[in-house]
Amino acid sequence: MKKFEVAVIPGDGIGKEVVPVSLKVLETVAEVHGGIKFDFQSFPWSSDYYVEHGKMMPDDGLKILKNFESIFLGAIGNPALVQDHIALWGLLIKIRREFEQSINIRPAKYFKGLKSPLVNPKDFDLIVVRENSEGEYSEVGGRIHKGDDELAIQNAIFTKKGTERAMHYAFELAKKRRGHVTSATKSNGIFHSMPFWDEVFNEVKEEYQDVQTASYHIDALAAFFVTRPQIFDVIVASNLFGDILTDIGGAIMGSIGIAPAANINLNGKYPSMFEPVHGSAPDIVGKGIANPIGQIWTAKMMLDHFGEEELGSKLLDIIEDVTNDGIKTPDIGGTSSTEEVGDEICRRLKQAV
Ligand code: NAI
Ligand code: MG
Repeated sequence: MKKFEVAVIPGDGIGKEVVPVSLKVLETVAEVHGGIKFDFQSFPWSSDYYVEHGKMMPDDGLKILKNFESIFLGAIGNPALVQDHIALWGLLIKIRREFEQSINIRPAKYFKGLKSPLVNPKDFDLIVVRENSEGEYSEVGGRIHKGDDELAIQNAIFTKKGTERAMHYAFELAKKRRGHVTSATKSNGIFHSMPFWDEVFNEVKEEYQDVQTASYHIDALAAFFVTRPQIFDVIVASNLFGDILTDIGGAIMGSIGIAPAANINLNGKYPSMFEPVHGSAPDIVGKGIANPIGQIWTAKMMLDHFGEEELGSKLLDIIEDVTNDGIKTPDIGGTSSTEEVGDEICRRLKQAV
């Protein structure tokens, strides 16, 4: 019996609604599999916790989390109680940074039963590997003078280590998928960092003779996400380019409520964290209509991370069938509740064995 120890942080708003449903799905997955077991430990760290304790998590929060194999997080943020930057930096961003989660991955695919805004969505199925620790999002730079003389300098940081790390991850992932990696560059306009990015990409690809590659400038690449997303398999991108591409990826799927994400620690020193793309959705909280698919798909990514890819893809197939059969929440045109969607996925999981 393989046992996985998972720290669960439902957080705020609909996080507290979609996380329990997803845990039920994971329990069912374990039951159906028979050879794995999840040990969930839940932590109430959230904006409510802040109101009571004056902080988003206890001082030794990270020390507690460090011992888990992964973190399963809902959403953070309740602007009525705590200012957003305090809430997010006090928990979510703190974990991402301190636990050196240097890669962010977000898949996007044509989803049966969902209305993509694309007229002809074809069968796209792609995944963006975003460098998550450096690049354009750095604190290096500064501002000087006031008024008309004011000046701001923002430096982008690209280390060989960080760049290679993201690219190796992309190639390894492509080997398990359709064997193709696209590099998001802009070496025609950005003078230093992007030619460097290209050089590293060309070096790394030599190690993967069996993987096909392409390299596009980010502007054209962003357009291709809209006009022909089906040409992509794995895309590797810097922090800023990846941020933008993943939003387009979510948009062409048709709803923010279904998009999943993973923050991966690659040096093995800390756990990775799995969280949906959406936030705490204060406008629909308490109504029982939050779409649980983003959170459940996030659970699927955690299964992949644990090496249970076969189970993961079975789960995703079932999610898609349930959606296609119309058992879906109002945000994607259905009338089902959060729990009804979760229960139907559990029922079909059991049926599939
Ligand atoms: P949001 O993603 O919470 O909501 C945007 C819109 O999408 C809302 O109309 C909401 O009802 C809808 N929506 C989101 N998830 C849904 C789901 N699963 N099912 C059905 N509808 C869904 O983004 P918003 O409103 O900008 O932020 C709300 C709070 O969440 C803020 O405090 C924000 O800081 C926080 N936030 C947290 C994130 C995180 O924890 N990773 C990410 C984004 C926002
Ligand atoms: Mg973004």
